[in-house]
Amino acid sequence: MTPAIWFVLWALTLGHAVAVAQLALGATSLDRWLTSETVVARQGILDNIGSGGVYAHSAKSGIVIASPSTDSPDYYHTWTRDSALTMKAVIDLCKNGDVELLGTITEYINSQAYIQTVSNPSGDLASGGLGEPKFHVDEIAFTGSWGRPQRDGPALRATALIAFGQWLIENGYSAQAKEIIWPIVRNDLSYVAQYWNSTGYGEDPPLSCSIHSNCIPDLWEEVLGSSFFTVAVQHRALVEGNTFASQVGSTCSFCDSQAPQTLCFLQSFWTGSYTLANFGGGRTGKDANTLLGTIHTFDPKADCDDTTFQPCSARALANHKVVTDSFRSIYAINLGIHAGQAVAVGRYPEDSYYDGNPWYLCTLAAAELLYDAIYQWDRLGSLSITDVSLGFFRDLHSSSAIGTYSSSSGIYSSIVSAVKTYADGYVGLVEKHAMANGSMAEQFSKWDGFQLSARDLTWSYAALLTANSRRNAVVPAAWGETAASNVPSKCSSTWATGTYSTATNTNWPSTLTSGSASQTGTSSTTTKKTTSPCATPTSVEVTFDLIATTAWGQSIKLSGSINELGAWDLDQAIALGADQYTSDKHRWSVTADLPAGASLEYKYIRVESDGRIKWESDPNRSYKVPAACGISFTTISDTWR
Ligand SMILES: *[C@@H]1O[C@H](CO)[C@@H](O)[C@H](O)[C@H]1NC(C)=O
Ligand SMILES: *[C@@H]1O[C@H](CO)[C@@H](O)[C@H](O)[C@H]1NC(C)=O
Ligand SMILES: *[C@@H]1O[C@H](CO)[C@@H](O)[C@H](O)[C@H]1NC(C)=O
Repeated sequence: MTPAIWFVLWALTLGHAVAVAQLALGATSLDRWLTSETVVARQGILDNIGSGGVYAHSAKSGIVIASPSTDSPDYYHTWTRDSALTMKAVIDLCKNGDVELLGTITEYINSQAYIQTVSNPSGDLASGGLGEPKFHVDEIAFTGSWGRPQRDGPALRATALIAFGQWLIENGYSAQAKEIIWPIVRNDLSYVAQYWNSTGYGEDPPLSCSIHSNCIPDLWEEVLGSSFFTVAVQHRALVEGNTFASQVGSTCSFCDSQAPQTLCFLQSFWTGSYTLANFGGGRTGKDANTLLGTIHTFDPKADCDDTTFQPCSARALANHKVVTDSFRSIYAINLGIHAGQAVAVGRYPEDSYYDGNPWYLCTLAAAELLYDAIYQWDRLGSLSITDVSLGFFRDLHSSSAIGTYSSSSGIYSSIVSAVKTYADGYVGLVEKHAMANGSMAEQFSKWDGFQLSARDLTWSYAALLTANSRRNAVVPAAWGETAASNVPSKCSSTWATGTYSTATNTNWPSTLTSGSASQTGTSSTTTKKTTSPCATPTSVEVTFDLIATTAWGQSIKLSGSINELGAWDLDQAIALGADQYTSDKHRWSVTADLPAGASLEYKYIRVESDGRIKWESDPNRSYKVPAACGISFTTISDTWR
């Protein structure tokens, strides 16, 4: 079996992954659920991508649908925002070793190169069309009335593509980064630089607004005005866009000129006690928009900077409390749950869509932000409590006091452990309210926790995967926050014109592999070089899953070249279990803890009731245990021969 295939099999053997986790020593029930749910989520995403996805057959190749739901509500469209956030999660999985996703990623990129050129009610490529929020799944413009344009999509798509462009460069494909990725990214960055500060009405540059006069909807497509989430992701995109430009031998002067000003404007969303989600909208502005803005601009190398609202910043933590507390009294399923304990989180308290309910992706964002913060404190070696964040900490650790606590102190350990428990609580609620088979819709009812609105929401699955990664301290690459957190002394209203050109090159090499592109030979590479600081486990739980038809009294054993598999000593062969053997599926399996990166050979043996043995036919099977950051279990699926 080629090492690249194990991941697919791993993804396909959901039932088995559960069994693996249950064998894991010290695994909590949440660990067990996440072990299976990450498989469901990964598959849930692939099911929603055209044209191979089971729910996306009529979508063009690489097009990500928001949900298979075609009515009440109809989400069978592709949104630039949802697709980009999803593909960023997919690209990060790939960068961490899940190289089976490469094909999906390049198809997505090809689809975006085309969709950028589709004229739509927001405009053409160079006249505002990149702000169109959604398209039909066959890449035709959606011409119905809608809140348009939306300014976060191009920024998020640039971020996703830059993450992949950097993978290409690291793996020897600089030409593709330059010729395929950069032209698409440059268009998106041009849009951001040109429109980030535009209201869209009576301004230069002018915009057509088909339904509203001041029509720049937020990520929920409701509030018209400036949105924290949008400005935060725009700042990030411009900063990393500038770096990426130089990595491909180009420049982005318009990124450079606009990024500091977007950061300057971002400061005005801080109210002093929480982060205002929107200017406009006539609401309190307490909104999961701000949690999402923070997790999608998390930089693992950053300090706890307030200016970029980093997860461990006093601002982000104070805001986390205000936003989550705003849902405690308004949802029946949250009643009686005190501050400092996880609650179901919705978009914003005034929400009336489907009568206003918690969303999976918002509840997961509340968890992810805290996992990010823990990562940052651990890396920095301390955490600080300020007057701004004191309330957040007091809820979790009542004796918290203003000060800085070194990671070697007892207080640090107790606080971080309380934050981890708190974060896990949010994921635990998602576990509780997901379907038994792992499916997650958009919302769950505030009355009884049952699923509501669009089924199998792609973004819900992406949110699960990113929260799970951060929980395991698997973090994305830094985006350059450390050099981009100084706020200019004076904010100004500005814009810059970029460069728009049709991205025509989608000429990928016939195979992409991680490692060096010049590498030849038959064995494809398992793992990756990752720039993310992320732990590679020293051992991996490998489940050997064998389909073998046996008669009553016969059993199956496994023998192999390494000590863990008995070093070919028959007396030390490992017995497989038949507890999953059914009349339909003749499955034997066993899980062994193997050293990460070990290369081994093995074979199965059938043992008759009288003790006689029969080896499988030659050749020996060979396998290399993955050694990749965040990968702690896998499944090999074999058939007796
Ligand atoms: C444009 O930027 C200025 C300066 O930060 C700010 O006051 C204004 O509200 C911004 N307008 C929009 C629509 O972003
Ligand atoms: C879970 O069950 C629902 C309803 O029967 C179904 O629509 C969905 O596709 C299933 N999900 C998975 C992951 O099997
Ligand atoms: C399988 O491995 C064993 C132990 O190293 C070796 O003796 C045997 O020749 C191998 N079989 C084949 C077909 O290579």
